[in-house]
Amino acid sequence: MSTTVTLIPGDGIGPSITDATVQLLAAAGADITWETHLAGMAAVAAHGDPMPESTIDAIRRSRVALKGPLETPVGKGFRSINVALRKAFDLYANIRPAKSILPGLRFDGVDIVLVRENTEGLYIGIENYIKVGADERAAAQSIAVVTRLGAERIHRYAFEYALAHGRKKVTIVHKANILKYSQGLFLDVGREVAAEYAGRVQVEEKIVDAVAMELVMRPERFDVIVTTNLFGDILSDLTSGLVGGLGLTPGANIGKDAAIFEAVHGTAPDIAGKGIANPTAVMLAACQLLDHIGDGARAEGIRAAIASVLRERKTVTGDVGGSATTAEYTDAVIARL
Ligand code: NAI
Repeated sequence: MSTTVTLIPGDGIGPSITDATVQLLAAAGADITWETHLAGMAAVAAHGDPMPESTIDAIRRSRVALKGPLETPVGKGFRSINVALRKAFDLYANIRPAKSILPGLRFDGVDIVLVRENTEGLYIGIENYIKVGADERAAAQSIAVVTRLGAERIHRYAFEYALAHGRKKVTIVHKANILKYSQGLFLDVGREVAAEYAGRVQVEEKIVDAVAMELVMRPERFDVIVTTNLFGDILSDLTSGLVGGLGLTPGANIGKDAAIFEAVHGTAPDIAGKGIANPTAVMLAACQLLDHIGDGARAEGIRAAIASVLRERKTVTGDVGGSATTAEYTDAVIARL
């Protein structure tokens, strides 16, 4: 049965790289009915609203979306659209796989999936200034909130992910030695959840600063990492860097009622409209989408075709050292399927 997926082409290079991805999935035989809806500047131009209710409704119905990068318009009343989407659907898990594909980089054999808590922690948005004497901003505080519910669902997601994808180990990354309450609760809940998976998935606990060092010394020893919002934000860019940068990195935002898949990079205004953007990150995001809707074998086939074209480095885009256009690269991947 065909799966309906909401397609948000996005801004800048978004339409061309999502279009390339739709072509690739069709060529791979994925049975998807795309419903296109606008967000970002494209939606401002069409509806005067960067996040029209009709787009939210479409995702509510389909529960799955593939999204191109969005430009958040500068000006009053516009929040970050990406944050708005995360809030609208309580997308609590941000999943970023980082896998070595390109040869000749500093690291080889990296295959890490970083699971970041996406809704609470230090990014929950409880911040204020403290006035002392006449100084309105004599001090500032940002409060980290970790809830049992939030910690439990992200740990469970990481362990379930490991089981579903044949992964052996989950590393719980924390700073509970210093932040004994918030990080302490995160770690304690992680231990409770891990106990349920004993004998099926290995668990290790590591302090975030040690992980930062180990990731750039022996990244191949990591498998699945689960961590809180701020640490996940930083470490996921680090893991992207290990495998060649943001242009090759996809990301999934998963909630109970919806999942939104996207590239990690932005709208690349400097190359928009030139037909030379690298569509790989969105293509890999679409592979995560296929995994999510139970079509993992097809996703693996697509990943293999992408890897083979990238490794050969003959028909690749400028950002990874080639001179192919988006269309030429897409055709090469399709030919390799
Ligand atoms: P960016 O990721 O768009 O661009 C940074 C650099 O990487 C540029 O030189 C660009 O040409 C290059 N690049 C990015 N993706 C590429 C691709 N697929 N192929 C080839 N080269 C690529 O970051 P920047 O310039 O900071 O942000 C531009 C806009 O994107 C902003 O409006 C920002 O708000 C938005 N943005 C949206 C995101 C989203 O919707 N998830 C994420 C990040 C930024």
